[in-house]
Amino acid sequence: MNPHIQVAIDGPAGTGKSTVAKRAAEALGYTFVDSGAMYRCVALAALRAGLSVEQADAIGGLAARVSIRLGPLADGKQPVWLDGEDATAAIRTPEVTALSSPVSAIPAVRAALTAQQRAFAEQGPVVMEGRDIQTVVLPHAEVKVYLSASPEVRAERRYRELRPGSTTVAAVAAAIRERDERDSTRANAPLKPADDAVVIDTDPLSVDEVAARVVALARAAEEARHA
Ligand code: DC
Repeated sequence: MNPHIQVAIDGPAGTGKSTVAKRAAEALGYTFVDSGAMYRCVALAALRAGLSVEQADAIGGLAARVSIRLGPLADGKQPVWLDGEDATAAIRTPEVTALSSPVSAIPAVRAALTAQQRAFAEQGPVVMEGRDIQTVVLPHAEVKVYLSASPEVRAERRYRELRPGSTTVAAVAAAIRERDERDSTRANAPLKPADDAVVIDTDPLSVDEVAARVVALARAAEEARHA
């Protein structure tokens, strides 16, 4: 049995995964772990070190060396520190977003971050979200939820999150397609649902409805544990 309850939420960008995971973590009182933020930190560190994505060994070394800290949720945001510096905003730039996908395909980067993510789950109950949490990081999670949404709905959602006027829905859709393609076809820990995942199509549902389903699944897992 896992030392603490593990809730693994995976899916592509624009499914509302992050918002759902945060709401569920708050409702349950579990620690929220945004694993994508950790890949973003490595991408930011690589940019700052002047490394290009071809320098996989150097980026792998960087991933093992940098210190990444995820703080408690405050106002729906998770503060992120990279080597002691607040990187919460810096990891969300389009440049870092674009680089985070190829950086996350580097096996040494995945190995370093997977180990840290497992360590978080040793410390207490978690809601962890990402691309490979239910398949690789926490394969014995009591709750595995895979969120899906149609490409059109995902592009609209992401567009609304970005500054209107700074881009177009078509450009957002193209960037999402490219990142998904790379994240789901890579050899190492590709994005896909676990065989025993609950797959939720989020198109017709509100964030609150999806979060409520996750909370209900976690409550059922808590009861099963204490039965
Ligand atoms: O969820 P996000 O957009 O913040 O993730 C940034 C990138 O990191 C994304 O392109 C895929 C990658 N990622 C991953 O490979 N594995 C995870 N568990 C989380 C994110």
